[in-house]
Amino acid sequence: MATLVTGGAGYIGSHMVLDLLAAGEKVVVYDNLTTGFRDAVAPGATFIKGDVGDEAALDKLFTSHDIDAVIHFAGSIVVPESVVDPLKYYRNNTANSRTLIEACVRHGVARFIFSSTAAVYGDPAVMPIAETEPCAPVSPYGTSKWMTELMLADVAAAHELNYIALRYFNVAGADPEGRVGQSTANATHLIKVACQAALGLRPALSVFGTDYDTPDGTGLRDYIHVADLAKAHRLALAWLRDGGASGIMNCGYGDGFSVMQVIDAVKRVSGVDFTVKIEGRRAGDSPKVVADAGKIRETLGWVPDYADLDTIVWHAFAWEKNLSQKH
Ligand SMILES: NC(=O)c1ccc[n+]([C@@H]2O[C@H](COP(=O)([O-])OP(=O)(O)OC[C@H]3O[C@@H](n4cnc5c(N)ncnc54)[C@H](O)[C@@H]3O)[C@@H](O)[C@H]2O)c1
Repeated sequence: MATLVTGGAGYIGSHMVLDLLAAGEKVVVYDNLTTGFRDAVAPGATFIKGDVGDEAALDKLFTSHDIDAVIHFAGSIVVPESVVDPLKYYRNNTANSRTLIEACVRHGVARFIFSSTAAVYGDPAVMPIAETEPCAPVSPYGTSKWMTELMLADVAAAHELNYIALRYFNVAGADPEGRVGQSTANATHLIKVACQAALGLRPALSVFGTDYDTPDGTGLRDYIHVADLAKAHRLALAWLRDGGASGIMNCGYGDGFSVMQVIDAVKRVSGVDFTVKIEGRRAGDSPKVVADAGKIRETLGWVPDYADLDTIVWHAFAWEKNLSQKH
């Protein structure tokens, strides 16, 4: 039996494929390459180019491959774009997920792992955020993901399908062996952008807001290494294969690092004192977003291997350097 990884040519999906192959799994990657890269897919996986919204192509895929589980990364991920073009997000993240889930039900694929996001919480009053906090997304991106979570819960209650929705906090870093990393053009993730500034690919790095109620006044986020995130999915897969119940779990370390701490780490690791521009607060930014990460540790026995800011930055920087030399 093989595991189907949608979006396996993307940033997180390509790390998942490496993790599964290392664990001896058979992997089929399905990706339309809108933001992913064919060469990010490890050679040991079968690659099929196609769209998650294409019902006929999914039928063909499920008929010609023995798939027992789906890990669904494919989606659109840019929060500000979702505000300007909400229908794109309701199509690609909600409607296309519906098409995929329906294909799973039709073909008897009973295990489903879904890439959700901390954005489903919106602007929570309680920190750290537990899964029991109410969802109140403040962007079409967050809503489009939450709608898919709701759909999965209803489908799991009605059909032979169990699911785990993993709500990622700030994903960062790259493969410790340097095989894959984040290649997305115009990415806005802080650690990636700071590494680009250290490499001279950007003239400066902007910090938005230094007067938040945090120890140094800059925003605090829960950064999780992408390899630890892939490991969490592999454990969720094992959980479902062992007959574990459906559920929703946060993916973060439960620790926050401020924008300034991240910048200091990038300067320390790269040895470059790049220019930092202090700007005003940006609309929609929360002062602090940190996961209560107890549930995933207790349920899946997840123990991260790279929960250290300098390690995350080191891997991200090595990847960025590699990428800049390719172009
Ligand atoms: N990166 C983060 O910090 C973060 C945080 C929370 C949640 N997520 C979620 O994780 C998932 C993966 O994110 P990523 O950072 O790897 O993004 P990415 O853009 O690098 O990867 C997405 C992949 O999906 C593919 N894809 C998109 N739409 C498709 C479709 N309709 N059919 C087939 N393939 C399609 C793209 O080509 C790409 O390879 C997304 O669902 C995202 O919402 C990411």
